[in-house]
Amino acid sequence: MGKYDFDKVVDRRNTNCTKWDNLDKTFPKARKDSIPMWIADMDFEIAKPIIDSVHMVADRKIYGYSTRETDRYFDAVTGWYKRRFGWDIERESLMFSSGVVPALAVLIRILTDENDGIIIQRPVYHPFTNKIVQNNRRVVNNSLIYKDGKYEMNFDDLEEKAKDPSNKLMILCSPHNPVGRVWTEEELKKVVDICKRNNVFIIADEIHNDLVRNKRKHINLQNLCPEYKEKIVTCLAPSKTFNLAGMQLSNIVINTPELRKAWLEEVERSGAQHNPNPFAIEAIIAAYNECEDWLDELNNYIDENAAYIKTFIENNLPKVKMAPIEGTYLVWLDFNEYGLSSEELERIMLEEAGLIFDEGTMFGEEGSGFERINIACRRELVEECMNRIKKVFEER
Ligand SMILES: Cc1ncc(COP(=O)(O)O)c(C=O)c1O
Repeated sequence: MGKYDFDKVVDRRNTNCTKWDNLDKTFPKARKDSIPMWIADMDFEIAKPIIDSVHMVADRKIYGYSTRETDRYFDAVTGWYKRRFGWDIERESLMFSSGVVPALAVLIRILTDENDGIIIQRPVYHPFTNKIVQNNRRVVNNSLIYKDGKYEMNFDDLEEKAKDPSNKLMILCSPHNPVGRVWTEEELKKVVDICKRNNVFIIADEIHNDLVRNKRKHINLQNLCPEYKEKIVTCLAPSKTFNLAGMQLSNIVINTPELRKAWLEEVERSGAQHNPNPFAIEAIIAAYNECEDWLDELNNYIDENAAYIKTFIENNLPKVKMAPIEGTYLVWLDFNEYGLSSEELERIMLEEAGLIFDEGTMFGEEGSGFERINIACRRELVEECMNRIKKVFEER
């Protein structure tokens, strides 16, 4: 065992936990003994320096309005990106957002007008679609190509869509949720070339950037293509990396004063953001300054969970295909060989197997017949999950 115990049983029930509580309401058809492996947060206890920082803030006994405009905060964030990715982020470019999803809504409004087209690559994280539609913009779907069990981008189609002058923005998911791709330098450069030729702005949602499998390297788009950085906004956050989603603090990298002004005005106008909370500020400083070794061990543990599933499927479920997981802690499994409808697949998982996943169709029709499984939990649960799948599918 390493320094950290990711096998430890942590009972999250009755803690107002979205993933584990209220399941009878969220999934009325789910079995009482269901294992929830859906929403993207982790069941692991977080790193001790973060816990200590939260205690430290609690002990201040005052939780008033708080600011992240301090050297300690900016040094922690920029230091992380310099050390881990070789990326120099200018501190004035870091805008505060409570979350990446609220930031997407604000960015969509300042970068496009009503009825403009916004390019996304389905199957993809469903709030991309929701925020586009809710803001009266058009979804322009540049579907990923699924070939021989693997995903790649369709660059010809992207070029076609980028050429249409009413399509002004692309939202890139990098690493990609749910298909698990960590895009290569070549792929990312092609995306930027196409967007540059056609004057398309890019939002790079890199929230999963620290979660890479088998020591892969995530490449930050702005760092790779600094010549286009005025037209790239990057969404960053420690929330997935260190399991701090409930803390609600993300960093949005905006590189021009004009766009920062537009951001601040839209945030003010829409009331979309408030102030960062004092617990989050200290938690993030602790995470970025003191928890690098925890993250490295976490990634190793998730690698092993993924390897376990891959071997299990090869040995027991030959009709199921697993997309190679290069990043995130989300496994994307293809059950299409069973020829079931999406509704029937969901029913089997919930009612027969007692497993709560995110259904593939949530990410677009390309996800039909797929399940997204959150494997950021102790191995014992991953094993139980796979055995339950085997039990209900081996006779089918
Ligand atoms: C690609 C992507 N973006 C954003 C989010 C959520 O971000 P936030 O909780 O900061 O709104 C998620 C969560 O799963 C995600 O996968």
